Amino acid sequence: MPVSYYTPTRVVFGKDAISELKTELKLQNATKVLLHTGGSSAKKSGLLDKVISILDESNIAHVELPGVKANPRLSLVREGIALGKKEGVNFIIALGGGSVIDSSKAIGYGLKYDGDVWDFYSGKAKPVASVGVGVVLTISAAGSEMSDSSVITNDEDGWLKRGCNSDVCRAKFAIMDPTYTFTLPPYQSSCGTVDIIMHTLERFFHSGYGISLTDNLAAALIKTVMVSGKKVLENPEDYEARASIMWASSISHNGLMQVGNENRGDWSCHQIEHELSGMFDVAHGAGLSVVFPAWARYIYKAHAERFAKLGNLVFGLEGDNEKVALETIEKFEEFFSSINMPVHLSEMNITLDEKTMEKLLDKLTNNNTRTLGIFHNLKREDMKKIYEIAQ
Ligand code: NZQ
Ligand code: ZN
Repeated sequence: MPVSYYTPTRVVFGKDAISELKTELKLQNATKVLLHTGGSSAKKSGLLDKVISILDESNIAHVELPGVKANPRLSLVREGIALGKKEGVNFIIALGGGSVIDSSKAIGYGLKYDGDVWDFYSGKAKPVASVGVGVVLTISAAGSEMSDSSVITNDEDGWLKRGCNSDVCRAKFAIMDPTYTFTLPPYQSSCGTVDIIMHTLERFFHSGYGISLTDNLAAALIKTVMVSGKKVLENPEDYEARASIMWASSISHNGLMQVGNENRGDWSCHQIEHELSGMFDVAHGAGLSVVFPAWARYIYKAHAERFAKLGNLVFGLEGDNEKVALETIEKFEEFFSSINMPVHLSEMNITLDEKTMEKLLDKLTNNNTRTLGIFHNLKREDMKKIYEIAQ
């Protein structure tokens, strides 16, 4: 199966990248902008005021919609669609991270659709159009600034967290200034580090033919992010480390890490995690640092060679495949712990009693209508075992 690589987002990267915002907005013919933001970080850092002053200077009218929460909610998306329609918005600026970008992408779909925007997340319909979205990135993590994906939590009906993938939603531009991430709290920095590593790992675990260039790029990315992820905990204003992480967040999830491989990768860990963040509102990166080791421990014996290859490329491990495979998993666990990420659900105060487990599995399997994983296929009972290992 050929894998396509399509990255239409114009990236403006480096210190003071915001100086290009005016030009980018002109290129998009933006005349009325919805300025979408999260909680308080963009206001506190002064970035919100900066963007507003650029809009004013450019004579571009705007309307603001703040309040995106981590694990962005459908109810705010609906509010944004109603506001955008009322105000005649023709472009959206997502000022923030994955949550703000994903919420903006969903509003973008909704502004060009007469039906219910959740149709795109429930799989009932495929998006065919969107109002353009441009990004001013403030956290390196989800990679949404260059991805074809948006993930929304349905807070109105069952707290299902579901993704929608379509080229239609890809950001028109992404302004990436690593200095904007200096203010990130250590916990958010580490959540980002894990998510970036996982976007590459999900693709590394594809099911068939792959090329060594992509494997080597994957290893280089993971190694760099591990080193830089530690550096920013010691010095949050380490520009080089912040810049490496920021660019890694984009190329980890823009398709580069799957070119030459037989398919787009496994993605079970992400699905298993999304159900956790939907139900318990945990940070996505923290959920992943718990799920990956549990998933890997459950399946590695069936795929010792691939795990050992990863261990060799990333950690220089050598020897018997099964032994190296297990050591590789332990090394990732050690690393996640060393950047203060949880590796067990108990560290996030989550206990899965029988009733909660069954509810979680009903959601994860879409009421027993789907299995997961292309590298290793998981049925409901497998998913249960992985959650049990994760406890
Ligand atoms: O809300 P504010 O006050 O802005 O605070 C945010 C938020 O609390 C804070 N923050 C962001 N930039 C900051 C900052 N704090 C201080 N200084 C700054 N410069 O960080 C917190 C987390 O922000 P969020 O946007 O939620 O983080 P992230 O980028 O990790 O996004 C997570 C969401 O993206 C989804 C996840 O599931 C989750 O819902 N994902 C989206 C993907 C995609 N669209 O391609 C792929 C990923 O796999 C992921 O699923
Ligand atoms: Zn992710």
